[in-house]
Amino acid sequence: MKKQTDIGLQYLQMLGVRPAKSRADAIAKLDALMGKDCAQLSQLWQEKDIERIYALKNETLPLSLHFSGLYDGDLYRKVCNWIAAHRDAFGQEILEVGCDCGVLSCFLGSLFPNAHITAIDRTVKAVENGRALAKQLQVDNVTFFHCALEDLSDLQFDTVLSVRTAHENLTTMDIQPSFALLLKQAILYGNTMYNYAAELARHVRKGGTLVTIEKMGRTPLFLGWLLDLQAQRLTLQRAHYQQLDCTVLGAPLTLQAVSAKKESSQSGDVYDFWCSLYPSQPGQQQWTGWAAETLLQNLVQELDVLEDGFCAYNNDGAICGKYALWTLHGGLVLYYRANAEQTTVGLYGAEMVLPLAEQLQTLRQRAQAQGLILRSLDATAEKQLD
Ligand SMILES: C[S@@+](CC[C@H](N)C(=O)[O-])C[C@H]1O[C@@H](n2cnc3c(N)ncnc32)[C@H](O)[C@@H]1O
Repeated sequence: MKKQTDIGLQYLQMLGVRPAKSRADAIAKLDALMGKDCAQLSQLWQEKDIERIYALKNETLPLSLHFSGLYDGDLYRKVCNWIAAHRDAFGQEILEVGCDCGVLSCFLGSLFPNAHITAIDRTVKAVENGRALAKQLQVDNVTFFHCALEDLSDLQFDTVLSVRTAHENLTTMDIQPSFALLLKQAILYGNTMYNYAAELARHVRKGGTLVTIEKMGRTPLFLGWLLDLQAQRLTLQRAHYQQLDCTVLGAPLTLQAVSAKKESSQSGDVYDFWCSLYPSQPGQQQWTGWAAETLLQNLVQELDVLEDGFCAYNNDGAICGKYALWTLHGGLVLYYRANAEQTTVGLYGAEMVLPLAEQLQTLRQRAQAQGLILRSLDATAEKQLD
């Protein structure tokens, strides 16, 4: 098979930036570039003062480019390669939301010379740097505007692109771990991004496409985002979906690249899409993580008798574990164990009810010995979505 050109890497090399190997490596390099401003930057990270971080990193174009390269070089490489491999998702009039210093805007401009890119950001210095970068790279089909998405007029585009902006536009960050059913968790997370998804969708013309490449794992946050897109009558383009596994400061970071089309008809079922991310192996008896939560969600209607089950809470009242043993219509037994680190779901034959009930009893005694507060599960409440 012909090897695909690594257009993302070529672009980064052309910009003269490269990712740092670790946080310490990034800080040492930024220290050399920024001097005492680097200490201020660390302070702003601690305070989570995102707006001032963007202003500071955009102090000059070379600083902004190196900063982005050190932190996000590998991520840019993968995003650019995804864009190049999915050119058919992009039309003539493109809106890029949250363009920062224009790294992706200029990539789009040169990849699509016949298109026009409107690039917006709410950080004024970022936009100025974007203009300077476009001039430096002689890219003349990108127009930069200092503007927040929510203040953009009613203009509509063939394609709206957002890369890593959703997490900065949540209505609340305060969702506690709950061990609730997967769909319930997804709806909670989805609610925090609903308005932002609506804002993005508002600028997609009928028949146009929304492309989002967001910082999310395959978690309820991502499922919530998909539900939000569906609520905007956007249809997921299955062929365009890709998980981008990146390395940032030597650590893994996951992005979900998704494109969705604005159609007049009812959009497809994103929950089916979600389930397709967790195919079962033949003969599989145990599932872990979100695959386990997905299995449980899919079997809710089959849950028959709750043989035993409890939730464990710490002294602050925060939930830290949930354990349940259900028999299913048809005779199988479902054994659910979840704590802060891991969820496991096992499906067993009916003969396993007694040994598993004993195991659950041992877990209960252990939790009691640890001083946790235990509450029995309510079978009816467990099956409800709200
Ligand atoms: C994490 S950075 C990502 C920048 C760029 N998309 C990338 O992937 O390199 C987020 C950028 O989006 C901008 N931003 C976030 N929310 C925005 C909004 N509602 N309207 C305009 N810009 C926004 C921020 O100012 C920041 O420059």
